[in-house]
Amino acid sequence: MTAEVPPEVERILFTQEQIEARIDALATEISHHYRNRSLKLIGVLKGSVFFLAALARRLEVPVKIDFLAISSFSNKSGAPGMVRIAKDLDESIEGEDVLLVEDIVDTGFTLRYLLQTLAGRGPNSLAVCTFLDRNSRRIVQVPVEYRCFEIPDHFVIGFGLDHNQLYRNLNYVAVLKRESE
Ligand code: IMP
Ligand code: MG
Repeated sequence: MTAEVPPEVERILFTQEQIEARIDALATEISHHYRNRSLKLIGVLKGSVFFLAALARRLEVPVKIDFLAISSFSNKSGAPGMVRIAKDLDESIEGEDVLLVEDIVDTGFTLRYLLQTLAGRGPNSLAVCTFLDRNSRRIVQVPVEYRCFEIPDHFVIGFGLDHNQLYRNLNYVAVLKRESE
């Protein structure tokens, strides 16, 4: 059964086959880097869930998984980039090799906040793996060790990414039509 492409889709950026091939390659790279160690994957809810699950299945090192959720808000003057933890991790990360798994890094505000917070909890190592990277919109510089795809400056949906909480379950990544934004 082939699901229909919703009318809000402008064009497909990455097909399921392209995504799977890229995650395969990334998993091999990560497994090599962390060989003889175990890895704690930390997923940022909800967008990273699909990517994290696909990546974790392909990793060849022992993995633990934990999640946190954040919420972003603007301050009184309307400046973006204020982030807080809405749901914290279940377990400590002290002494662990942590890979923070994100759906997309855009301005970098979310990631900067998360890295500062997690670094303060004493992990043995802390690195970032993002499904998508929109580097052209970066406002704060953040380290990104692993990325699946660099994307152009368009709003995208699918494979975990939503628009008003919809379309996370598309098995491809698509550009949302302008008029739908
Ligand atoms: P930033 O890097 O702090 O600007 O924010 C990144 C967050 O904004 C991501 O974790 C997503 O939740 C959301 N986001 C940014 N761009 C997109 C997009 O194109 N589609 C869906 N969500 C997005
Ligand atoms: Mg997110």
